Amino acid sequence: MTDFDQILSKSTRGVEDSIIIKMAQRARDLKSKGRDVVSLTIGEPDFDTPQFIKQAATDAMDAGFTHYSPMPGMPQLREALSAKLKAENGLTYSTDEIVITNGAKQAITNAAFALLDPNDEVIMPTPFWVAYEGISVMAGGKPVILKTTSKDGFKMTPAALEAAVTDRTKLLIFSNPCNPSGAVYTRDELEALAAIVRKHPRMMVMSDEIYEYIVFDKPHVSFGTLEGMRERTITINGFSKGFAMTGWRLGFLAAAFPVAKACAKVQGTFTAGANAFVQMAGVIALGESREECRKMTASYHSRRDLISRLLADIPGVSVRPPNGTFYIFPDVSAHLGKTAGNHRVETVEDLCMWLLDEHDVATVPGGAFGDPDCLRMSFACSEEDIEKGIGRMKEALGLLS
Ligand SMILES: Cc1ncc(COP(=O)(O)O)c(C=O)c1O
Repeated sequence: MTDFDQILSKSTRGVEDSIIIKMAQRARDLKSKGRDVVSLTIGEPDFDTPQFIKQAATDAMDAGFTHYSPMPGMPQLREALSAKLKAENGLTYSTDEIVITNGAKQAITNAAFALLDPNDEVIMPTPFWVAYEGISVMAGGKPVILKTTSKDGFKMTPAALEAAVTDRTKLLIFSNPCNPSGAVYTRDELEALAAIVRKHPRMMVMSDEIYEYIVFDKPHVSFGTLEGMRERTITINGFSKGFAMTGWRLGFLAAAFPVAKACAKVQGTFTAGANAFVQMAGVIALGESREECRKMTASYHSRRDLISRLLADIPGVSVRPPNGTFYIFPDVSAHLGKTAGNHRVETVEDLCMWLLDEHDVATVPGGAFGDPDCLRMSFACSEEDIEKGIGRMKEALGLLS
């Protein structure tokens, strides 16, 4: 028998399969067996892509945009993005400092491969988007997990950041708004972090702003606008969340020219330019008002209020209403070590499995995001599903003692 453990690379073996995908798949399997499962797992808008963007893709195909695009992206979209970054984010990047990618995930991957040498340290504050860890490891970097707490609003403090920096630190990576906590940093909070970055000239910052439009209570601030940070920041963004375009695979990054050029080189090595007619649809999406994005955000806002209220009403669940994204990340550790019948819940992972297998509600254990006390729920689903799912969770947790 071939021993594939001896064959597969250490870096691929070192990366876990996504627990989000596992939980979502398990929920789908149960559904296909006729169970009425409510899935609060997957991080994608439940809205369809706005019709005018779909039409733009069809028109672009008809107009012949069916060939390879230039590696770093179509000039039309790079221009539109340069204008968008200036107008909406206050960031000044020329077209050759912007690289269009196959989704934001590829933008993160390009930047990780462009920057990391073996064992360069990558600081990632918890809770972090799961892919950061795997991408950093595959690119040869060494994740350094910086714990944040619910008391600090799941935000890293300047002191904690400073303590995590070593002479091997190459990168700080975080999402703002944050998947999974929904935390949104204020300008003052970001300024305090930038002051630490300024002290360490070798350190770069990957600011993942893919949820920038989905904010409820305070404005989104781009890290690259802070003093001295334009050169030090790789801004990651894309169309998946704000424009409900997950399946289109359209993202981008903006960075100082040498970094952008290196990212384009990585992209040219691994794949090619993003889909040409999708990029042209991206130009049309950016050219319109953000009315459709605002409507979707208004809907997430009322669902945020609903799910926060319902969770706050469950004993032993400690919750912070998220200021952005469509995720909520309650602390459920008060229930660990309890039993219901002959089922004992030792970890949040056990709890999530039990909630799914016995109570038909699918969530994602927080350990996947670096916080084993919490679980993540996506509220990019109907209010009816939110009520049903949280109702089931309340009933289930009530059985534990
Ligand atoms: C924080 C964060 N960054 C990046 C991505 C990836 O976005 P894309 O679909 O554009 O690759 C996601 C998707 O869940 C995300 O949550």
